[in-house]
Amino acid sequence: MIKKCLFPAAGYGTRFLPATKAMPKEMLPVVNKPLIQYGVEEALDAGLNEISIVTGRGKRALEDHFDISYELENQIKGTDKEKYLVGIRRLLDECSFSYTRQTQMKGLGHAILTGRPLIGDEPFAVVLADDLCVNLDGKGVLEQMVDLYKKYRCTIVAVQEVDPSETNKYGVIAGDEIGDGLIRVRDMVEKPAPEDAPSNLAIIGRYILTPDIFKLIEETEPGKGGEIQITDALLKQAKDGCVIAYKFKGQRFDCGGAEGYIEATNFCFEHFYKTGKAY
Ligand code: G1P
Repeated sequence: MIKKCLFPAAGYGTRFLPATKAMPKEMLPVVNKPLIQYGVEEALDAGLNEISIVTGRGKRALEDHFDISYELENQIKGTDKEKYLVGIRRLLDECSFSYTRQTQMKGLGHAILTGRPLIGDEPFAVVLADDLCVNLDGKGVLEQMVDLYKKYRCTIVAVQEVDPSETNKYGVIAGDEIGDGLIRVRDMVEKPAPEDAPSNLAIIGRYILTPDIFKLIEETEPGKGGEIQITDALLKQAKDGCVIAYKFKGQRFDCGGAEGYIEATNFCFEHFYKTGKAY
């Protein structure tokens, strides 16, 4: 069964400068929790408790966040502030965390390949923490995908319909519908111009990958933007075997930019913070 979840987190977060100059973008708070914590909670809710993070220079705050702060805990022990740390303590108690560094930014495919020593030869999930995904009506997005993996035993990518003018921000797929919200991928293009896009179904930052993807990434030449694109490796996997795109249930906020970040903040304030579910 899937136990591991990989978080590529070496990127510079240039869309959020200057906030991200000395702080990892994954540590940007959405109300009271850093983005990556939402991702790890989603992973744990899906039963994935072996968390692997691909970090880079200037990202040490990530490791400190997923660790015990004895001074702080000692300071607030016995006060009503202890409740603020209940959620993060649960993650520390129930998950293991391992890290590796990506020394050069060569694209998402390269970042995932960098995580290979932490993953080994088993299927795993990938979460891009700046896509914050929530589903108020049931299972989280990763849990929905894990359920699908159990049934299909192949790579699953989460997709959503986007405005056709926005295809140049995403990996875009096309394929044949094989069930409710399920598409067997035939074609896949990284960040196509609207006129070149095979559809308006965009990949968002949730993947379940079978481990043969590592070899396919190794064989992938630099693509869009001169980077090793996971989308290109996935297309090979789709052609040789099977990749399923899944129109997930729930909402996704693009917290890599100001607009989505503010929307996510308002949403989480309303649905989690005000209702006392934020810790
Ligand atoms: C990456 C992927 C892209 C995917 C997107 C989802 O792009 O390359 O295929 O659609 O994540 O957020 P990035 O946003 O890192 O440029």
